[in-house]
Amino acid sequence: MSQSVATQDVVNEDPSVQGIQVEHRADPFAMVIVGAHGDLTKRKLLPALYALYQQNLLPKDFAILGLSRTPMSDQEFRVLMCDSLKKFASDLKFEQDAWDKFAKSLYYLSADMGKQQDYDTITSKLDELKDKHGTEGNNIFYLSTAPSLYTPTIKGLAAAGLAKKCKPNEAPWPRIIVEKPFGHDLTSSEGLDEAIHETFNEHQVYRIDHYLGKETVQNIMVLRFANGIFEPLWNYKYIDHVQITNAETLGVEDRGPYYEESGCLRDMLQNHMLQLVSLVGMEPPISMDHEATRDEKVKVLRCLRHIEKENVNESVVRGQYGAGTIDGKKVVGYRQENRVSPESNTETFVAVKMFIDNWRWAGVPFFVRSGKRLAKSITEIAIQFRPAPHRLFRDILGADGLNPNNLVIQIQPDEGISLKFATKQPGQANQIRWLNMDFKYGAAFGVRSPSAYERLLYDCMLGDPSLFARTDQVDVSWAFVDPILASWAEENKKNKIKFPNYEAGSWGPKEADDLIGSTGFSWRRL
Ligand SMILES: NC(=O)c1ccc[n+]([C@@H]2O[C@H](COP(=O)([O-])OP(=O)(O)OC[C@H]3O[C@@H](n4cnc5c(N)ncnc54)[C@H](OP(=O)(O)O)[C@@H]3O)[C@@H](O)[C@H]2O)c1
Repeated sequence: MSQSVATQDVVNEDPSVQGIQVEHRADPFAMVIVGAHGDLTKRKLLPALYALYQQNLLPKDFAILGLSRTPMSDQEFRVLMCDSLKKFASDLKFEQDAWDKFAKSLYYLSADMGKQQDYDTITSKLDELKDKHGTEGNNIFYLSTAPSLYTPTIKGLAAAGLAKKCKPNEAPWPRIIVEKPFGHDLTSSEGLDEAIHETFNEHQVYRIDHYLGKETVQNIMVLRFANGIFEPLWNYKYIDHVQITNAETLGVEDRGPYYEESGCLRDMLQNHMLQLVSLVGMEPPISMDHEATRDEKVKVLRCLRHIEKENVNESVVRGQYGAGTIDGKKVVGYRQENRVSPESNTETFVAVKMFIDNWRWAGVPFFVRSGKRLAKSITEIAIQFRPAPHRLFRDILGADGLNPNNLVIQIQPDEGISLKFATKQPGQANQIRWLNMDFKYGAAFGVRSPSAYERLLYDCMLGDPSLFARTDQVDVSWAFVDPILASWAEENKKNKIKFPNYEAGSWGPKEADDLIGSTGFSWRRL
């Protein structure tokens, strides 16, 4: 854990940054972004660091060093980052004065992570920044390159003496942030872990799943465990089933080569969607200690009923979009996208019926779906409660009575929570209407929600890994997904798959409706 200091300490004396009170303060540090010329740095990482600076959440002494092969001076890098900030972070207020001060801590080095001699240059630069910015030798290495570079980079850092194992309270400390995808199956994920653990102890490793940095996702814990009214109902006695949807209208965009290797199951389900399942399904942790929370999340994932390779089609549906219409515009099918094979069998949609085999969730199905080029962009968790035990109003409610209360946690867009319940319509006639009691983050608090990357980078600076995936959690997720991948690989070999099987702009393949329909339910109309 980092050595944090208390709220009152004034650490950033820059009057142009908004002073806000914080509970903890990060140690001085240098953040090394490997792959700084890339998309993620421009879109997310630099805007997040600037936002933290604006909010006075960075320590007084910090430096940021960008690395990639493209030759660039510090000044060129600063201009590139400033332009990206203006382009991609429209929710942030750009303040020239604050930026100019922040940019003085931004540096760039052209380095090839495949060449050991380049690590010597990185070492010299970090020594220089330690003296100039007082970073005290604490280094955060953010791996934001293609995953094939993760292991060589870790080995290179270790060989150069830039990274080593340390104890939780030891300083100076090196930490590592690893972007997803974390492996492409259980074996490769274990291999990557082995390479990481040769150089780092687990408490130094931060595996990013940016879903966990979202406000509403964190609010699931608060909703469940800070309120007394939900938890007594949060079990098989009162919950009929759970639906988790991640729908995107976007197609594969320019990420064809990445997506061809990954597909929806690896890109979304193995990580983000299973994280949501674990937050909904977990038992209350014994404390807010980060290991206590992560323990509970792993425990519930261990209870996921194993899907046998032979029975995958009973519980899983995959799909790929064909041509169609999105927002009134014609769009091509996946196989016609840029840098995608015209015979591709990569899935752009997946729906899974899962069960958590434990006391709390016995017999309650969790239906989880994720897909590209669907009718609407929305991510939500819907808890559907059982109907009232005695249907007193059955004559009035009719079929509606079978579709009763639900609690919906909307993750994007418009983060919020709504509870649907029946009310009497005003008037003499006895008529019942279903209404939503809504809470929207934006409207309720009137402040900008921090981006997921802001929260996660900040937590890493503080040495708090609660919102990062632990190694056993990643392994158990891959163990759940691996038989599905194996079954699909066999089907592909036998040419058994008929893609495309859904139209862009629809809600996915018909088989997904059948998957949920076979149990008497239907997907929510969003
Ligand atoms: N973009 C997103 O929104 C997003 C979201 C979630 C996860 N991710 C993950 O984040 C990682 C980065 O994604 P990205 O979209 O930023 O990828 P990207 O645009 O391809 O950027 C990676 C950067 O790495 C640099 N690089 C390549 N080989 C290098 C080497 N040998 N030594 C040093 N630098 C090297 C490249 O710059 P040079 O050519 O200058 O070397 C390139 O700009 C990936 O693992 C991705 O899966 C990205």
